[in-house]
This record gives sequence, structure tokens and C-alpha cells, in this order.
Amino acid sequence: MDIKRRELLTGISVAGAGVLINACRSNTQTRTGGATNDENKNDAPAPGEAEPIEVTATEDLMREHGILRRALLVYQESAVRLRQDPASVPPDALEKTANLFRVFGEEYHEKKLEETFIFPAVKKTANAATAYVDILLAQHVRGREITDYLLSISQADKIASNSIEPLAKALESFVRMYEHHAAIEDTVVFPAWKAAVGGNELDALGEKFEEIEHEQFGSDGFETALKRMEEIEQSLGLSNLDMFTAPAPSAVK
Ligand SMILES: [Fe+2]
Ligand SMILES: [Fe+2]
Repeated sequence: MDIKRRELLTGISVAGAGVLINACRSNTQTRTGGATNDENKNDAPAPGEAEPIEVTATEDLMREHGILRRALLVYQESAVRLRQDPASVPPDALEKTANLFRVFGEEYHEKKLEETFIFPAVKKTANAATAYVDILLAQHVRGREITDYLLSISQADKIASNSIEPLAKALESFVRMYEHHAAIEDTVVFPAWKAAVGGNELDALGEKFEEIEHEQFGSDGFETALKRMEEIEQSLGLSNLDMFTAPAPSAVK
């Protein structure tokens, strides 16, 4: 995809991320709570500023899943709305979500972290997670096919009427696959990876992940993606968590 167009749609450009992230502490600082370079050596919080929160490499991977789950929520709600009132789903919002999934989920979280570091390390050791790796890789490939489809179909100003049901089905099947995918990674694969690499290497890999994130986004990709996701949710009227509180069983008819 054309880089300028992608940046415009996702908001995750080097320049854009830089502006946002200059105000944020780096992940390395928050992971370790300590200095990582000369400029951070006197790193005590300013008066009134919160203490940095320690975020480990595995927590980082899991909070990336949090961003991706918020994109899945947009997909799920869009599938419901498409069937009820197709005009209530602006293709633009779907395109922004698919682009965020591509840049942050597929090109960074999946390719640069899981496929480069996590899966090879898990595959080398015989444990309960090993058997999942090939399936997870196949699901990455399928996910990218579905993202390609979502990007192609959402480029129009209006979704063609004969595309509505296939689009709703593609969104639902993607959500179903990726919810299970991320749940297995969170509960089986990441813990197995953590056990396989051990404490010292885990800290070093946390630093490495930080470097990759900076290479990819120019600064803190998580904060940028979170902000972008919040904007998409707001544009679709999905930013009020309370609207998802389930009704009492007695109220369900
Ligand atoms: Fe994955
Ligand atoms: Fe993942």
C-alpha cells in the first residue's frame, strides 16, 4: 500500500507518532523504571508526575492484543449494523480500523515480534504451546487475506448492496478467529515463551522490542495506536463502555 495513504488513514506515521509521543515516557523507561540512555539518567519523576509503571515484554505483547481486541469490537459492531442499517457503517471507519490492524497488528505485533522472536523460541522447546505455532502462523496469513479484502471493499464511498452480507460474514469470522488466536497466545504461548527464554534474556528482549517499536513507528506505537483506536470508536459512537453492559437475564426476552 502507498505509504502516504496508509499514514493518512492510520495516523501512525513517524511524524505523527513523534508529535504524540514526545509527551510520553518511552516504553523502555516504563518497563524497567530506570534510565536507558544519557538523557534519561536523571529520571526521577517531576513533581506531580506519576511513577513509571513497570511493563514487561509479555505484558507489552498482551496490551498490544488489547488494541487489536478494540479493533475486533469495531468489526463485530459493524457486522451487526451492516445487517440492520448498512448506511450506519461509514466505509471510512472500517478502512481506518483495517489499516490500524495492518500496521500495528500484522506488520508490527505479528511479523516483527511473534514471528521473529516468540514463535521460533517456542517451537524449539517441547511444551504445550509448540503444537499451536503452525496454526497461529496460518491464522496470521488468513488474517492478512481478510484485511486485504476489508481494505479493498472499504475504499468505496458506499458499500455495494451485494457486498453487505459477505462483508458482515468476513468481519464475524475474523473476530471469531482472532479472539481465539489472541486468547491462546495470552494464556499458553506467551507464558511458554517467557519460561523458555528466562529472566535475563527476557529483559534484553524487552529492550529489543522497544528498539523495533521505535524503528517501526518513530516513537511509542502503543500510545499512538491507542489514541487512533479511541478516535475510531468515538466516530462510530462506541466509546461509552457502559453501553455494552449486558441486560439482566430477567430483562432478556
Ligand atoms: Fe499472533
Ligand atoms: Fe498476538
